[in-house]
Amino acid sequence: MRALLVDRSAPAGLRLGTAPEPEPAPHQALIRVAATSFNYGEISHLVPEAPEGTVLGWDAAGVVERAAADGSGPAVGTPVVTLAPAGAWAELRAVDTDLIGTVPEGADLGAVSTVPVAGASALRALHRIGPLLGRRVLVTGATGGVGRYAVQLARRGGAYVVAVTGDPETRGDTLRALGAHEVVGTPAAASEPVHGVIDLVGGKQLVEAYEKLSEGGTLVAVGHSAGEPEQFPYGALFGNEGRHDRTVASFYLLGCTNLAPDLSLLAQQVAAGELDPGVSWRGGWQRAGEAADALLGRRLHGKAVLDLDAAAA
Ligand SMILES: NC(=O)c1ccc[n+]([C@@H]2O[C@H](COP(=O)([O-])OP(=O)(O)OC[C@H]3O[C@@H](n4cnc5c(N)ncnc54)[C@H](OP(=O)(O)O)[C@@H]3O)[C@@H](O)[C@H]2O)c1
Repeated sequence: MRALLVDRSAPAGLRLGTAPEPEPAPHQALIRVAATSFNYGEISHLVPEAPEGTVLGWDAAGVVERAAADGSGPAVGTPVVTLAPAGAWAELRAVDTDLIGTVPEGADLGAVSTVPVAGASALRALHRIGPLLGRRVLVTGATGGVGRYAVQLARRGGAYVVAVTGDPETRGDTLRALGAHEVVGTPAAASEPVHGVIDLVGGKQLVEAYEKLSEGGTLVAVGHSAGEPEQFPYGALFGNEGRHDRTVASFYLLGCTNLAPDLSLLAQQVAAGELDPGVSWRGGWQRAGEAADALLGRRLHGKAVLDLDAAAA
């Protein structure tokens, strides 16, 4: 089968080549992939470290080619969206059925391919905060793949949403269109304390966002895009003066269980046009290097989608 292979002599470390077809375990379905979406983490961390020839990739949408032998999961021919630690960047992937969501017939599989890492991380991180109705939620890295879903889902959950971006001037309108009530350049600039934080950047932004938490509030540390340490000044963890019982929760999507219903729900909302998948780059997978370069160079805010069979666009 054709696949994107790790090849560090190629641009962005990826080359279109061939790989053996995966052999599904009894609890796995074989999926014919139509589209995949890139995530910052896999491009920045996994591609430079994986052995040459590896087929990476977390997110893929496609159609069930062969149902799981144990009878679990969707039937042959069902459009699906899938998540796994590797294997998405190929024509065929084998996936555990508890990481397969179903997709409405006729949906744009490219748009839906943005759901697994970006959408499900946003949804599960918001669940960790607790009820959102009438509460204030701050999202750092709000213009990115996860951040755009987090802004929309927090708004749909009834929160007052504060979005943080390094460039509020240029990107503020986009974030307000997604549902942000307030767009600021740093967490410290938020107008009032917040009950929850979805932090996608880490470092200084995490420290500032923690300082904004009200009593009983939760910061979910999802991402670490800044690559900086978190240095809390003396006194930052005091609990007096409205700062009692504030939590920092670590997060790992693949540590979450029962994700299939979430993938189905998010795919259905993307297909219905109720959630914007935030696609800011789309092309055939022969242009993978171009998309990866744009993501790493921070020229791409939102999701890059690769269609497997599209002519070079
Ligand atoms: N723990 C998990 O399971 C999990 C799951 C999903 C994602 N993640 C992590 O969450 C983070 C966000 O993922 P994503 O896919 O949304 O990434 P993304 O699309 O690259 O978005 C990250 C956003 O963060 C902002 N940012 C601020 N400082 C940055 C810096 N120094 N470098 C890069 N971006 C910076 C950028 O927005 P502005 O330029 O507008 O400020 C950018 O749009 C990543 O660290 C990713 O690895 C973790």
